Amino acid sequence: MGKIVVVGSSSIDLVVTSPKRPIAGETVIGETFHIVPGGKGANQAVAAARAGARVEMVGAVGNDRFGDMVLDNFQKQGVSATYMKPVTHKSTGIAHIVIAEGDNSIVVVPGANSEVDRDLVDRAKEAIKAASVVLLQLEIPLDTVIYVADLCKKSNVPVILNPAPAKLLPSDLIEKVTYLTPNEHECRAILGDCGDVEEILKRYPNKIILSEGSQGVRYFDGDRFVRVPALSVDVVDTTGAGDTFNGVFAVALAQGLPLKQAIRYGCVAASLSVTKLGAQGGMPTMEEIRKHVGDGH
Ligand code: RIB
Ligand code: NA
Repeated sequence: MGKIVVVGSSSIDLVVTSPKRPIAGETVIGETFHIVPGGKGANQAVAAARAGARVEMVGAVGNDRFGDMVLDNFQKQGVSATYMKPVTHKSTGIAHIVIAEGDNSIVVVPGANSEVDRDLVDRAKEAIKAASVVLLQLEIPLDTVIYVADLCKKSNVPVILNPAPAKLLPSDLIEKVTYLTPNEHECRAILGDCGDVEEILKRYPNKIILSEGSQGVRYFDGDRFVRVPALSVDVVDTTGAGDTFNGVFAVALAQGLPLKQAIRYGCVAASLSVTKLGAQGGMPTMEEIRKHVGDGH
């Protein structure tokens, strides 16, 4: 199996847990505060590495303590950082996360992540062309995402685009990627379509892999709708669940599993990840995933 290559964001998450989410103008007393590695790209890279893949991360960090934390974490997790660009004029990206009332709210400041550009992709070109699967998200410039998708299409490398945070996407980008992994809100936003979601899935058979949170995942296989269940677990923090899904889905595809089975691996991994605090906390190994793949069927 070749490498999984992730082109995307690497950030530090500043996570607060609070019994209540403040409304505008209000101050509330919170419970805990954690500084942990995050960013959708980095999370997907770590999920894939935890699941046993060789992973290359293409991204950028600032020349600051958070940047050092990001790189240390990649080293600890066994994610190769050969194409991590040091940036001097912008700080490492951060996400400000409030976990309250059973859900999270997030403000992302991209910082150095906005410097993940075509030049960097050109430097990583050979690694991208040799990848088993490439993973993309939307926390870096859209121009870069399009550039990578083009390169992968030309080189016949399968690409998963996790369209988060969502924005309207050019239709030729949607054409070029192999899989899109939105939730329902993202699915409508990327297509600019507020119609029936089942109709949308039918238009993109075996391509839009719709995440439905604790309900698992749904897609249209050309004949019928397929639902792949998640595990039922005690939820601590859903941050990064989607990233865990994408990272592990990529590994399972790279191992040659059929689509439905690869999705099941991703769902199981995402379910396990939400039982621990932090985007990367709780991400399972392949052994742990395999133990649960047969559960609840
Ligand atoms: O998908 C979860 C991630 O989104 C967090 O780690 C945070 O960095 C935000 O960008
Ligand atoms: Na977690």
